[in-house]
Amino acid sequence: MSRFSWFSLLALICAVVLGIYWNYDAYDPESLRGATVVITGCSTGIGEEMAYQYARLGAKILITARREDRLKEVVAKSVSLGAQEAHYVAGDMGKAEDCERTIQTAKEKFGRLDYLVLNHLGSNFGPLHDKFFKGESWDQDPDVDFFEDFLNINLVSYVRLASLALPLLKASSGHLVVVSSGFGKMYWPNLSFYSSAKFGLDGFFSSLRVELMKARQDVSVTLAVLGFIATPTISEKLQNVPDGEKALEGAAPIGETAQAVIRGGATRAREVYYPFYTWIMAKLTGLVPQFVDYIGVRVNMLPES
Ligand SMILES: NC(=O)c1ccc[n+]([C@@H]2O[C@H](COP(=O)([O-])OP(=O)(O)OC[C@H]3O[C@@H](n4cnc5c(N)ncnc54)[C@H](OP(=O)(O)O)[C@@H]3O)[C@@H](O)[C@H]2O)c1
Ligand SMILES: *[C@@H]1O[C@H](CO)[C@@H](O)[C@H](O)[C@H]1NC(C)=O
Repeated sequence: MSRFSWFSLLALICAVVLGIYWNYDAYDPESLRGATVVITGCSTGIGEEMAYQYARLGAKILITARREDRLKEVVAKSVSLGAQEAHYVAGDMGKAEDCERTIQTAKEKFGRLDYLVLNHLGSNFGPLHDKFFKGESWDQDPDVDFFEDFLNINLVSYVRLASLALPLLKASSGHLVVVSSGFGKMYWPNLSFYSSAKFGLDGFFSSLRVELMKARQDVSVTLAVLGFIATPTISEKLQNVPDGEKALEGAAPIGETAQAVIRGGATRAREVYYPFYTWIMAKLTGLVPQFVDYIGVRVNMLPES
């Protein structure tokens, strides 16, 4: 064989080995049958979809959000899909007592906890998509009260819930799953508040992961780095925006998103990147931050409202 064919063969073997290495994660959906799972932010969106998927796999779930009427519907559907048990706690995760009630209820209903999936996203300052699609820099409206509330609901409450649940997770060699975003790895203009919470989650939970490893505690910490997902909230918003329909075509399906997060949690992955481009966002920021600055200045990613 020529030198070129040898090289091609070697490259092919490397690609196959790498492909197997990256895709082989020993996921066994059966491991979720009877598993006890707390998921936050389940009245709609990715959280609602995760509730249904855990239900189909035969898990015992406890879901939370503020809207009780919606939670009742999600619980009923989860039971019909095959959840061994389904409970809800209606509450505001921005309030310490509601976080405590959530973990306490899980303890009472299940007696153990295998998974804590932190997913909720909210604000007391009106619908968040208004902020996301506003196209306004921090400097134009430096609303520190909003910022404080946002971090309380989307960062502090994640830390609070995880801290309350850790004794249970340690006892069960459990799984902690934290839902983040590409903007928790790469920053972007007009989303400073969002990046603050999501980068904060990365910092806290990556540090916690090492602490647990060091203490030989068998609790896995999975950070799910998600891209643009076609949730009902986003779909509805974009339908009423010029070019919104077109932007929506680029959004990833919610079912596959929920599946990727569930799989990553079950296989104790450090991080999950879905869709794949969130991995590129993370690497670009690490390797060539000046380029990220440049495209941030040049590109208007979100459609104008
Ligand atoms: N969709 C995307 O494109 C995308 C992209 C990257 C990352 N993510 C991440 O994925 C996760 C889920 O996002 P999503 O798009 O599915 O969100 P969503 O559709 O807006 O749903 C958010 C959920 O959080 C609940 N929630 C809001 N404020 C709350 C509070 N104070 N206390 C308790 N629950 C509260 C909401 O229910 P109530 O209003 O009933 O309380 C709702 O169930 C978030 O962490 C988000 O950052 C999403
Ligand atoms: C951010 O806000 C500025 C100021 O309103 C706007 O000109 C720009 O298009 C926005 N950038 C992005 C990426 O949305």
